[in-house]
Amino acid sequence: IDDLKAISQLCKEEGIWFHVDGCIGALMSIAPENKHLVDGIEDADSLALDPHKWLHVPFEAGCALIKDASLHRDAFAVHPEYLEEKPRGIAAAEYLQDYNLQTSRGFRALKVWLTLKEHGVAKFGRLIDQNIAQAHYLTEMVKNDSELELAAPTTVNIVCFSYKPAELADDALEALNIEIMIRLQESGTAAVSDTTVKGRHCLRAALCNHRTRRSDLELLLREIKSVGSAILGKG
Ligand SMILES: Cc1ncc(COP(=O)(O)O)c(C=O)c1O
Repeated sequence: IDDLKAISQLCKEEGIWFHVDGCIGALMSIAPENKHLVDGIEDADSLALDPHKWLHVPFEAGCALIKDASLHRDAFAVHPEYLEEKPRGIAAAEYLQDYNLQTSRGFRALKVWLTLKEHGVAKFGRLIDQNIAQAHYLTEMVKNDSELELAAPTTVNIVCFSYKPAELADDALEALNIEIMIRLQESGTAAVSDTTVKGRHCLRAALCNHRTRRSDLELLLREIKSVGSAILGKG
């Protein structure tokens, strides 16, 4: 995670707008055990966050928050003849399109509001902490397994690692891990993706499901090793 306090300070010194892309991470600010990871987010001039991610709102509900409402309005407001404000009547109310590019838009906020009303903020905070604790649990299992290699330290809910049962050339290791990933996806066992960290390919497990249990993570590693050894002709 970027050092938000340092970036905020730099933006203040240089007079730069401070935007935080918190599509995944912003909601950590409601998670009691991990909110310190996003200290400084409160200084943002604008913030993007995705309720369809860690708030489990049905797709899709992207959200942008801007601290200064008049700067926000001034950036978007346009009033051609057919959208002129009037002192009374329907056109006297505030125009929502003054705050974005869309004129007609669905009532996406309803599902976000209902989700929060039904479950409360505290429950989502606990679930975020749970996913992060699970990511650390998965990380420890990876570290303690000689056939697996951690690709980066785990800070939040994402664990990057590879199946590496023996010394293999980078290309062969990448091909092996991609094949494992695809077989896990095709069998419906796990929806692991992949990425490149410091120039090296690895698998990427992002834990954001409130139904995930530690036993699922144990199964994930068992399956990775079993599929991997089958591909290598050892299984
Ligand atoms: C950091 C970050 N920014 C932006 C996005 C874009 O997300 P969406 O199009 O779902 O709002 C993502 C999606 O994963 C993300 O992780």
